[in-house]
Amino acid sequence: MKPIKVGVLGLGTVGGGTVTILKRNAAEIARRAGREIVITRASARDLDKPRICDTQDIQLTTDSLAIINDPDIDIIVETIGGAGAVKDMILTAIANGKHIVTANKSLIATHGNEIFAKASEQGVIVAFEAAVAGGIPIIKAIREGLSGNQIQWLAGIINGTGNFILTEMRDKGRDFDDVLAEAQALGYAEADPTFDVEGIDAGHKLTILASIAFGIPLQFDKVYTEGITQITRVDVEYAEQLGYRIKHLGIARKTPEGIEWRVHPTLIPERRLIANVNGVRNAVLVKGDAVGATLYYGAGAGAEPTGSSIVADVIDVVRALTSDPENRVPHLAFQADALADIPVLPADRIKTSYYLRLNAEDKPGVLADVTKILADHNISIEAMIQKEPLKGETAVPIIMLTQITLEQEMNAAIAGIEALPTVSGKVSRIRMETLG
Ligand code: NAP
Ligand code: HSE
Repeated sequence: MKPIKVGVLGLGTVGGGTVTILKRNAAEIARRAGREIVITRASARDLDKPRICDTQDIQLTTDSLAIINDPDIDIIVETIGGAGAVKDMILTAIANGKHIVTANKSLIATHGNEIFAKASEQGVIVAFEAAVAGGIPIIKAIREGLSGNQIQWLAGIINGTGNFILTEMRDKGRDFDDVLAEAQALGYAEADPTFDVEGIDAGHKLTILASIAFGIPLQFDKVYTEGITQITRVDVEYAEQLGYRIKHLGIARKTPEGIEWRVHPTLIPERRLIANVNGVRNAVLVKGDAVGATLYYGAGAGAEPTGSSIVADVIDVVRALTSDPENRVPHLAFQADALADIPVLPADRIKTSYYLRLNAEDKPGVLADVTKILADHNISIEAMIQKEPLKGETAVPIIMLTQITLEQEMNAAIAGIEALPTVSGKVSRIRMETLG
């Protein structure tokens, strides 16, 4: 049988890792795929730049369209990134009958519905395992391994850069900017690192995970996103004293009213396995009605971990072309005409518990005012500690953990507390999940 020819767009961290794996493991991969897989062409912006992979025997170009329009190429691996020019490249490749493998979560989360529709019209595969949680085969696990379940909720640490920053800040007391610069140097961060630290990248990934879990169209614009830039070292320390870790989580939960779809820093009990996932590692908890809770863990970013997911997708495409071209797993796990129109809850309808930190004057009656406001909004306090004033300050930090309440009530209570003349500055609020 003739070898399958692959064109790789982009030769940076992920493109480079993909080329390395496909070359190093070529014989093993051919045994798995049923035929040889060869990268014949690749594109990059600067052909003089040193590469992390061996590009011998690969025809290099700065013109990605030349690869997309090459009739000899069967599969396009897209590792350029971004949702602008790349979208047109992918649609052209699909129109040309190419199968697509991509690591681009921004593209899939924002244009996936259109791309999948075009791919179905053309009878080509678009595979995107590498787009979520780097080297963890989480798409395959949910779409295939758990396909007998009703998925109830999932929660994950799905941005390696953010988890690396939080871990280094907690364990080594390092500064945010310093750790972010290291994550960029290691190739973990997005081209625009605000995507990592403001929760946008995790929002893209959660969009994809929830669509696959619940059988709904991709809707990135409905995901509530909050990043890690507001997390301070004192919050990390107070959380620890209360027996919690702060992790940046993506959470999607099916409730009778609709779907909670949210990304934000979250207090998790330190005894939970997911609270102990550190560095660039990712982990995703998925709860199905039949299987119960399952946990998937591994490298969330980096050249070869992400390349591992890309190569697995390439092998899946080759297997499908070789043995069973008609019997394909649907892009979003459910058949395209069976996607459900379940409402997505606005952020103020989320129900969760909270960590609150506020600075108040140290005099009688202040605490009573705060707790009355919480009580007026039906918010019960689970635990409370009052700390010594921070150096050079007179106000005392008060930390509270609340029971589950409606976000709308909490927003109103926080506004009321911030308006108290005895409370200074903003109330720090971090949502809390027991993940039990
Ligand atoms: P990267 O290291 O910056 O690589 C991007 C590559 O694209 C570079 O080789 C660049 O060329 C090339 N490129 C840019 N514009 C191009 C154009 N118009 N035509 C041809 N080539 C072009 O990025 P990356 O980290 O590998 O990320 C790539 C994609 O994978 C993104 O969608 C990202 O979100 C996703 N992803 C990344 C990771 C990770 O750990 N980094 C993990 C999962 C998913 P030059 O090298 O010549 O500049
Ligand atoms: N920038 C992303 C992260 C790459 O840090 O998780 C992996 O998707």
